[in-house]
Amino acid sequence: MLSKSMEKALNGQVNAEYYSAYLYLSMSSYFDSVGLPGCGNWMKMQFQEEWLHGSKIYDYIIERGGRVILQAIDQPPSSWDSARAVFTEVLQHEQKVTGLINALADLALDERDHATSIFLQWFISEQVEEEATAGGILDKMKLIGDDNAAMLAMDQDLATRVFTAPSK
Ligand SMILES: [Fe+2]
Ligand SMILES: [Fe+2]
Repeated sequence: MLSKSMEKALNGQVNAEYYSAYLYLSMSSYFDSVGLPGCGNWMKMQFQEEWLHGSKIYDYIIERGGRVILQAIDQPPSSWDSARAVFTEVLQHEQKVTGLINALADLALDERDHATSIFLQWFISEQVEEEATAGGILDKMKLIGDDNAAMLAMDQDLATRVFTAPSK
């Protein structure tokens, strides 16, 4: 059984993950509107991943006998100055989420909730990957600068990303 404080904190993370999904879907629609459908595709895959993260926590709360209370999802921004600005925000957002996951992990340790500690380990590793991926794309976009041909090549590269739902 989850403690009330852990249940509340995990519910907050469900909302944070669904907000991430919403943010990336908004970024996807921005990219489609500026002629970068490959970047739009990458964001759409990211949206699906984040939705899955939220649902993973949702299922865990129920598995531990807790109650899921869905909260309002904030409206995400809808436009950015450039592709580089978008990925700068992705990296900052992922760093913020890493902080939230770490705070949850701290709470699990404080409460000696070993099951939740183990559950959160997957998210801790996932955040390392998320920050590295976003940082890698941002680095490339910095190199590209104002070179439109290079940006289109990068867009084609990002068009190849596919989403595969993990088997449980
Ligand atoms: Fe996530
Ligand atoms: Fe993420």
